[in-house]
Amino acid sequence: MTGQEAARYTRVAIWLHWIIAALVVANLFLGFFHEDFGKAATPWMMFYHKSFGLTVLGLTLARLAWRLGHRPPAFDPALKPWEARLAGVIHALFYVALIAIPLSGWLLSSSSARGTNFFGLFDIAPLPISRSDDVHDLFEELHELLGLAMVGLLALHVAGALKHHLQGHRHLIGRMAPFLYRS
Ligand code: HEM
Ligand code: HEM
Repeated sequence: MTGQEAARYTRVAIWLHWIIAALVVANLFLGFFHEDFGKAATPWMMFYHKSFGLTVLGLTLARLAWRLGHRPPAFDPALKPWEARLAGVIHALFYVALIAIPLSGWLLSSSSARGTNFFGLFDIAPLPISRSDDVHDLFEELHELLGLAMVGLLALHVAGALKHHLQGHRHLIGRMAPFLYRS
């Protein structure tokens, strides 16, 4: 194994990656499927949806701040140049989505009379925007589109990681694994 193959993300980056990933997957599920659980379940599902989403916003800002001082390892040399470029674009789009989705959700909530509470700890102030139906519909549409874009990015990201793993480049997932493949 070369030095580059053994390169890993820092422990902080790895934990932030997996906590954010778990919260995003949970939120996609809560967002798209809450109606299937009936009217009685909606309030608590949306309560967690909003709290998880705002946590993602905070953790993504922390991740970006950490990234400024701790550059990620260079892409694995096993990646072809176009694969490394595509992975870089997907990572950048992830960061855009990880900020834009919670923000659009916060704007969506702010355009309705329903309040937002963070895990029962404190209320989140609404953003200063109009509460008209048009504004509400606009952010609802935007939030849904961004959610669908996140599903697309996730599918490409996981397909890329699995492709390389199955081609025998097992160290690639190990770069982001908290426990496996310690070098
Ligand atoms: C919604 C869920 C996910 C999000 C938002 C996400 C986001 C990201 C981002 C932004 C990076 C780049 C880190 C950086 O350079 O700062 C990254 C790297 C990585 N992710 Fe994910 N990820 C998710 C789920 C997953 C899953 C399910 C896997 C498992 C296959 C995975 C495996 C990896 C690996 C192996 C890397 C390191 C790539 C490299 O070698 O540089 N991710 N992820
Ligand atoms: C990682 C962050 C988030 C993700 C991935 C996400 C994803 C989604 C998805 C996929 C939907 C369903 C869209 C549809 O089918 O119409 C949804 C709905 C919604 N989200 Fe989010 N969301 C996030 C954060 C937030 C935040 C931070 C808030 C508010 C503070 C929020 C408020 C809402 C609201 C009010 C709905 C509409 C529920 C309804 O009435 O049907 N979301 N979200």
